[in-house]
Amino acid sequence: MTEETQCGSEQNCGGCSSSATCSAETQRKHTEDRSSQKLAKIKYRIAVMSGKGGVGKSTVAVNLATSLAELGYKVGIFDGDVHGPNVPKMLGVDHIAPVISSDGLTPVNTPDGIKVISMGFLVQDNDTPIAWRGPMKHTLFQQFIADVDWGELDYLVIDLPPGTGDEPMSIAQLMGKPLWTVIVTTPQDVALLDSRKSVVFARTLEMNILGIVENMSGMSCPHCGGTIDLFKTGGGLRASIELEAPFLGAIPIDPQIVHGGDSGTPLTIADPNSNSSRIFAEIAKKITDMITSSKEAA
Ligand SMILES: Nc1ncnc2c1ncn2[C@@H]1O[C@H](COP(=O)(O)OP(=O)(O)OP(=O)(O)O)[C@@H](O)[C@H]1O
Ligand SMILES: [Mg+2]
Repeated sequence: MTEETQCGSEQNCGGCSSSATCSAETQRKHTEDRSSQKLAKIKYRIAVMSGKGGVGKSTVAVNLATSLAELGYKVGIFDGDVHGPNVPKMLGVDHIAPVISSDGLTPVNTPDGIKVISMGFLVQDNDTPIAWRGPMKHTLFQQFIADVDWGELDYLVIDLPPGTGDEPMSIAQLMGKPLWTVIVTTPQDVALLDSRKSVVFARTLEMNILGIVENMSGMSCPHCGGTIDLFKTGGGLRASIELEAPFLGAIPIDPQIVHGGDSGTPLTIADPNSNSSRIFAEIAKKITDMITSSKEAA
């Protein structure tokens, strides 16, 4: 009897009684088949990345996801930051555990119907750091695709950790093509240096670059309404011109954005008419127009 007939079903690989006798090669093939089945139900995948940390990737990913949901799309969010999984807290679902069954993992639903998967759901203790090397993270990402019941989605937004290391490379490889990407940067002149690395990385991995978002771009004075250029403005726009990548928009420094992230109700949900929420909505609309008018749209 061959391993395939012992195994009986691609659906059961890894969990059936004969999985112990399956060769690693057979299991790998079945995982790939399950991934392909799951990915086939997700129309568009968008990775949010940046050349360095703390520029607002998770904030942009979460508010982009809510803005896409607001436009009527079915949306999921894949937290690709194993070491600092902030997405569950930012969406107010960090106290909920995903259901694990023999069919795999069911994502956690936010009150607005966004499906969320994150390492944050799987750790018992948020204070203990995860000391994992690249291959373990690759396997986790593989399971987040092959063994999570994402169902039918229009958009899966992927929040990447900073930089151009193991995780973005694994995710780019596992998500298949086309994988769209949004690059987040800050407005200082050094934004160009950081953005250049992300743009070259994305082009090397054949990701489709949607464009650059300049985050923390100026600040509206709560007293006089004037603009304070705390970190200057325009670095993202200059980077987009020089790197020949579209400019998607500039989001100001906004204390309400911090409050939204900390409280678990993103600003785009708490106050959809605020200036920053409207900018997120414009970016989301721009992105959907770009994707659906592209020749690679499903
Ligand atoms: N436009 C903004 N105005 C004010 N605060 C912001 C803005 N964007 C992000 N922040 C705040 O900056 C901090 C870092 O943001 P965030 O976690 O989204 O960055 P990140 O790029 O995902 O970080 P990391 O690289 O660690 O994953 C958070 O406290 C967030 O609330
Ligand atoms: Mg982050």
